[in-house]
Amino acid sequence: MASRVDGPPKVSGQAKYGMDHNLPDTAHGYLVLSTIAHGEIESMEVTAAKTAPGVVEVYSPFDPLDLRKPINPFFGTEMWVPLQDREVTYYGQPIGFVVAETFEQARDAAMLVEVSYRPRPAATSLADGLESAVDAPLAMVGASALAVLAPDVESIEDALAASEVTVEATYHTAYQNHVAMEPHSAVAVWDAEGLTVYSGNQAANFQANDLAGALGVEPSEVHAVNPFVGGAFGGKMTSAPAFLAAAAARVLGRPVKAALSREQVFTATANRPATVQRISLGADRGGTLNALRHESWSSTDARHSFVEPTSYATSRNYYATRNLYLSQKMVPLNLPPVTSMRAPGEAPGSFALESAIDELAATLGMDPLELRLKNYNSGPPGSDLQWSSKHLDECYRVGAAEFGWSHRTPGGHTDGDWLVGMGMATAMYSASRFPATVGITLRADETAVVETSGADPGTGLLTVLSLVGAESLDIPPERVEPRLGDSRLPPGGFSAGSTATASAGSAIVEAAANVLGELLALASAPGGAFEGAEVTYADGKVHAQGRSKTFGEVLRAAGVPSLSMTGSSAPGEEMTKHSFSSFGAQFCEVRVHRWTREARVSRLLGVFDAGRIINPKAARSQIAGGMIWGVSAALHEGLEFEANGRAANGDLAGYLVPVNADIPEVGVHFVEYPDTLANPIGARGIGEIGTVGMAAAVANAIHNATGLRIRELPITIEKLLDADHE
Ligand code: MOS
Repeated sequence: MASRVDGPPKVSGQAKYGMDHNLPDTAHGYLVLSTIAHGEIESMEVTAAKTAPGVVEVYSPFDPLDLRKPINPFFGTEMWVPLQDREVTYYGQPIGFVVAETFEQARDAAMLVEVSYRPRPAATSLADGLESAVDAPLAMVGASALAVLAPDVESIEDALAASEVTVEATYHTAYQNHVAMEPHSAVAVWDAEGLTVYSGNQAANFQANDLAGALGVEPSEVHAVNPFVGGAFGGKMTSAPAFLAAAAARVLGRPVKAALSREQVFTATANRPATVQRISLGADRGGTLNALRHESWSSTDARHSFVEPTSYATSRNYYATRNLYLSQKMVPLNLPPVTSMRAPGEAPGSFALESAIDELAATLGMDPLELRLKNYNSGPPGSDLQWSSKHLDECYRVGAAEFGWSHRTPGGHTDGDWLVGMGMATAMYSASRFPATVGITLRADETAVVETSGADPGTGLLTVLSLVGAESLDIPPERVEPRLGDSRLPPGGFSAGSTATASAGSAIVEAAANVLGELLALASAPGGAFEGAEVTYADGKVHAQGRSKTFGEVLRAAGVPSLSMTGSSAPGEEMTKHSFSSFGAQFCEVRVHRWTREARVSRLLGVFDAGRIINPKAARSQIAGGMIWGVSAALHEGLEFEANGRAANGDLAGYLVPVNADIPEVGVHFVEYPDTLANPIGARGIGEIGTVGMAAAVANAIHNATGLRIRELPITIEKLLDADHE
């Protein structure tokens, strides 16, 4: 059980986040945002702002900063950069940048900018846009529609019609914002070698590449530094403040610092799309699934940046079924940009699928856990690639025993005026990794450095580097100095997709083998500690001739202060042999007040099969955080928009997130089966699976307690008061 190596600097205020860098002669930038959702900027009156106290410069589409559109590394599409045209496609879009001597002066002057628009009609309602939905791009979902049909079956409709029991329902999930504690921000400074930018981000090397592309310089001329990141979750890629501060610092010849206000974070970054999902299940009376149809509509933005791949991320994988049909459409709207947010696809997708499975169980009069076991699969339906390692059945059984699932009764029970119910759901999150390179340096003082560019947005990756590094070198973690969050380090460790541990960890294994190979060569070389001998490395020491020496002794004997090597690892042949996923079973108990319909989660338990767990302490915290996020999705979170596209609750007064009083003790268990078919360290990733399934578990518990089936997130008191008993 390792404590975080970054814990002490964080709690003692020593950790420097991007905005904590105070450089001499820094100017401060403040963003101006649009106040219409769609149209063209006719003019911007900036005289008053330019002559306000302390103002250095005012940038706008009429007087822009020099920025080009970099290429998105995942979708190969052009990224949007601010101030390059007069088009407004959402309310709250960055359209100006005021730079002044102080933050307050910049903010005051920004209020003096007057904008006139030529507005166009704005599409801001997902419900109204469903008719005009278009197919989602293949790169975002894998395929726009997928059908697996048994040999004798013509269509999914035929399969549903031929099923003894069918259930069909439509589910809605809300827009969400990442609300990272650290708002998107940057400090940018240029010198003879190029740009240095301090800006919280999910991967320092990607930030450097994006900024280089935008500024028309070489990636080697951009030094992105982010050793500490205050939360990310998919929404902290290169941000508007980073592009603007970097470009302004170049023309002004002085450092520029810029941060979004909390309200600006809700529009000038990117959100999780809202979804509408229709699920149709067909089964026999014994509960065996015959047909599963999952049709999804995701909101997207005017540039079609992203689609929430709900159908593909869930129903593609969860259960055995002879017939499967998936579709994934998107509805472009004049609302803020959308992007990935923890478990994109899986989180809202599992709300729909796992609610529908619960509805089928209720229709069949079957225990929902038994129904899930009945349709257990050994690989995605229609795929030849079996799961590399799957112990979901054990998660179900361990969870059920510990939670007391056998005490659940179909109508729940009462405790005074409280209606009490239990619910559960399956969680899955695909296990993958990205190519990564890690550098290891052995030093004569018996310490080692393990480094990769990446970022640790609170996930614990820095500590993972020290643990896996120590294991690979066979030395105690205290002797390993992990380094992250610097684009000059070897490229790797992108914190996204629950991949960072598997990506960086696999590269550490390679780097350790390489540097230990060099060490042995050095030891047996002329003048080495074991000149001419057959040498081996074990227990943190070089052995030969019945004697052993530490790597520090070998280096000192050779007069070498340190020895460095890199190692790289990337997904390979294994991808053609198996399917890879983590699994989990979520359980919860909810109490709903008979008269006020206030809903309170009173017990939570998640049991997960995520391969090997590298650091149980941080893993437990991360999963607990994900489960709490799932409760938040179920009962609290939702970004609402007015008809004119303005975010109605885009601040922390109106955008609800759970507080301590909303969350009981969170139970987390791992059934631990290292998955070395997935990668050399056997860890499948735990960043996102904690949130998957939880919203459905809460909704299912509410149904068990009250008989009310709420198919729209978040489940508010109003919806519970309006709902009719079945
Ligand atoms: Mo993520 S949603 O891949 O940080």
